[in-house]
Amino acid sequence: MKFLWILCASHLFTAACRVSRGGKPPNFVFFVIDDLGIGDLGCFGNTTMRTPAMDKLAAEGVKLTQHIAAAPLCTPSRAAFLTGRYPIRSGMAGRTILGVFIIAASSGGLPTEEVTFAKLAKQHGYSTALIGKWHLGLNCERNDDLCHHPHSHGFDHFYGIPITHLRDCLPGHGTIFINIFVHLPYGHLWIWVATALVLHALGVIAVSRKAVLAAAFLAVVLLACLLLFVLTFPDLNCFLMRNGEVVEQPYTSENLTQKMTREAVQFLERNAGRPFLLFFSFIQVHTALFASPAFKGRSKHGLYGDAVEEVDWSVGKIIETLDRLKLSDDTLVYVTSDNGPHLEEVSDGEMYGGFSGIYRAGKSTNWEGGIRVPAIARWPGVIPANKQIDEPTSNMDLFPTVVKLVGAATPEDREIDGRDLMPLLLGQVERSEHEFMFHYCNAHLNAVRWHPANSTSIWKMFFFTPNFYPENSTGCFHTHICFCTKEYVTYHDPPLLFDLSKDPSESNPLNPENEPLYKDVLRSIREAVARHSLTLTNVPNQLSLVNVVWNPWLQPCCSSPFQLCRCEKDQM
Ligand SMILES: *[C@@H]1O[C@H](CO)[C@@H](O)[C@H](O)[C@H]1NC(C)=O
Ligand SMILES: *[C@@H]1O[C@H](CO)[C@@H](O)[C@H](O)[C@H]1NC(C)=O
Ligand SMILES: *[C@@H]1O[C@H](CO)[C@@H](O)[C@H](O)[C@H]1NC(C)=O
Ligand SMILES: *[C@@H]1O[C@H](CO)[C@@H](O)[C@H](O)[C@H]1NC(C)=O
Repeated sequence: MKFLWILCASHLFTAACRVSRGGKPPNFVFFVIDDLGIGDLGCFGNTTMRTPAMDKLAAEGVKLTQHIAAAPLCTPSRAAFLTGRYPIRSGMAGRTILGVFIIAASSGGLPTEEVTFAKLAKQHGYSTALIGKWHLGLNCERNDDLCHHPHSHGFDHFYGIPITHLRDCLPGHGTIFINIFVHLPYGHLWIWVATALVLHALGVIAVSRKAVLAAAFLAVVLLACLLLFVLTFPDLNCFLMRNGEVVEQPYTSENLTQKMTREAVQFLERNAGRPFLLFFSFIQVHTALFASPAFKGRSKHGLYGDAVEEVDWSVGKIIETLDRLKLSDDTLVYVTSDNGPHLEEVSDGEMYGGFSGIYRAGKSTNWEGGIRVPAIARWPGVIPANKQIDEPTSNMDLFPTVVKLVGAATPEDREIDGRDLMPLLLGQVERSEHEFMFHYCNAHLNAVRWHPANSTSIWKMFFFTPNFYPENSTGCFHTHICFCTKEYVTYHDPPLLFDLSKDPSESNPLNPENEPLYKDVLRSIREAVARHSLTLTNVPNQLSLVNVVWNPWLQPCCSSPFQLCRCEKDQM
């Protein structure tokens, strides 16, 4: 306390003192980029990608080099970001192979009992907006109850897409559904059953007996309907919303980032006179890749690079707007990615890209490449410029940080796993409060990170690892994503141990023979897991099979089913 007063006296009237003495809370602008790799930004060492706007933010703020996403996939990572809690606590961690929502008309989603930082900020007078991708559910019982919609989670304004930008949403890029289907339990069996039905029907028609002929005819009609449904499904599933209304179905992706940027600028202009929280959740750089005409073909890294550079342009536009409105000094800006780059994805025969830098693997794995995401925080005059923090931090930390800054009370009736970032960002403390971090793959505890209070080591212990073999493009490469269930992973007993402080690329596993501390580390981690397990409660699984499949009665439809739900009310 005394130290704080001396600090304040010597920097009288500086913004840092305003904060520590409980001054005016800031506005918030949070950018989350979809599937961006830690090696994709200039400020994180990329020399050929042009990201001047984000590089400038890093130069004017703090760069977090060990910022860990709470999950290596979009849906759980975003649930954790908004609530400050491991996804398993809200039921947003899948138990089957599927870890994310891929159908807008499914019933799962972030439960309304969860408290998001947007909800608390709104209660404290903030105007709140989510622009871009949501991916945390939509409806529960009717196609317009919006129970999981951003409006139910503290966002006054929403403009964007309820799920993710699937490959299916860009015509001519195939579908992820065949792939998922084949990997469902008995997936192959269903395909055999369907094929057998068709063959049977054809056979029956060939021998032509009347009663069975009718049955066979029915089977063919049913299959034709199914086929028609599969072919038109993207038109139903890929839609753009403004608040509770569908405004474009199916949407055209090309200019999406341009539209989102315009919307965000308008939000800032409308709210310049009052506190606001803007969560700009980019639809890029997820597959299927797209870029607007002004960016297509401009980067050195194909369409992927074009998309990253368009995102950077958009970040720049928002920062420019803050400057123009003279709000930069009153705004905490944060940039991150929801998980690592999607390495197993190939689009148009070209590797989709995304770069993990020195880190191993990418999206959907708990190797560092899957969860160590780029992160920048800027608040001019309050947090120092051009500083780097290497301590473990988490995307769950934004929850307690916002709660504290807006002066809200931390919910007492639940576990919060994030930690206030401000003491680290302000340089008031050197060590992160995250001693242990639990790395889940869906609902399965995959690895644990331990940064002991008395040591520089950062231990990371894996109980299993994904069957990911980039050297021969097998393993996850044929499923396009690494699954966490037992058929797709290798278990380790004794667990694999790495010391990230010496081996950040996770290339030299330690074992009881070559690491004298192995047994102690194992024991400490086992104890931490036991303590952590005691804090877990049984909650409904939002990603159970019934919660992720298509429900016709939950399907939003922009026109009428006779017009195939198509509409375009939102011309740019
Ligand atoms: C920059 O990013 C691109 C795209 O992810 C990647 O292919 C390239 O290797 C990176 N270059 C450097 C020097 O990091
Ligand atoms: C995207 O915007 C450009 C102008 O910036 C326009 O020429 C193009 O037609 C738009 N694309 C779509 C699909 O609307
Ligand atoms: C560090 O602390 C742990 C317990 O947190 C203890 O087991 C270990 O012996 C300590 N190591 C050193 C070098 O003091
Ligand atoms: C791919 O490589 C992994 C490990 O290097 C090996 O276990 C696996 O059998 C290989 N698969 C094929 C099809 O060669």
